Amino acid sequence: MNIILLAPPAAGKGTQAELLDEKYHLNHISTGDLLRNAASREDDFGKKLKEIMASGALVSDEIVLEMLEDHLEKSANQNLLFDGFPRTIHQAELLDEMLEKKNDKINYVFLLDVEEDILKKRITGRRICGKCNSVYNVNVEALNPKQENVCDKCGEKLYQRVDDNEESFNIRYQEYLEKTSPLINYYQESQKLYRIDSNQRKEVVFDSICKIIENNK
Ligand code: AP5
Repeated sequence: MNIILLAPPAAGKGTQAELLDEKYHLNHISTGDLLRNAASREDDFGKKLKEIMASGALVSDEIVLEMLEDHLEKSANQNLLFDGFPRTIHQAELLDEMLEKKNDKINYVFLLDVEEDILKKRITGRRICGKCNSVYNVNVEALNPKQENVCDKCGEKLYQRVDDNEESFNIRYQEYLEKTSPLINYYQESQKLYRIDSNQRKEVVFDSICKIIENNK
């Protein structure tokens, strides 16, 4: 079973990916995480990536695809869960080609639908643990850390991503509308798209996704 989580910035892809991974034991591939890892390098390539990502623009298809191919080679024969990929039609076509070569395909594309004002609230409130990567939200009561700025799980300080501000959100959202939202039609045509109302609590969203998977088994 291969899954794509398709959604605007901060809609909850990472949050749902973690829950799906726990239940179905999938290979969670977040291109955002892979790119942030590469951007942490102190060389010219790392610095360039950091700049692009902080601005809110998409990284070029070439860079993303090379990095992904590398990663997929190391994870053969596993169920794949894509979070933040594909983000352009070109990326989607190349993903189909890559999977076809392995006699494989995408089974589900879950479109996490969230209103723009809620996305803004989620993005500006997100806080992440620097040690265990747990994600919190200071604008959503149920997702607040128990102690301000401290991770519940490991006690480490929380940080805010450099692209989690309103200015960068506006660019990320525009990039989504222009380059990523055409994928809705792309996957609708192949009848793989499932629209999920994701304005609700994360447990409710997760339940909707699981029902679809279970009903198709
Ligand atoms: P990426 O890391 O993929 O960022 P994104 O798409 O903007 O998504 P986020 O990670 O911000 O959010 P999310 O949907 O995972 O939400 P989360 O679960 O954390 O990409 C970053 C950058 O990398 C891009 O801008 C681009 O430059 C580059 N990039 C990455 N992939 C690329 C690609 N394929 N091609 C080109 N460039 C690429 O939730 C957000 C917050 O809301 C959290 O605080 C969470 O606790 C909270 N929350 C989650 N669900 C709920 C809920 N149901 N109710 C209330 N709060 C909730």
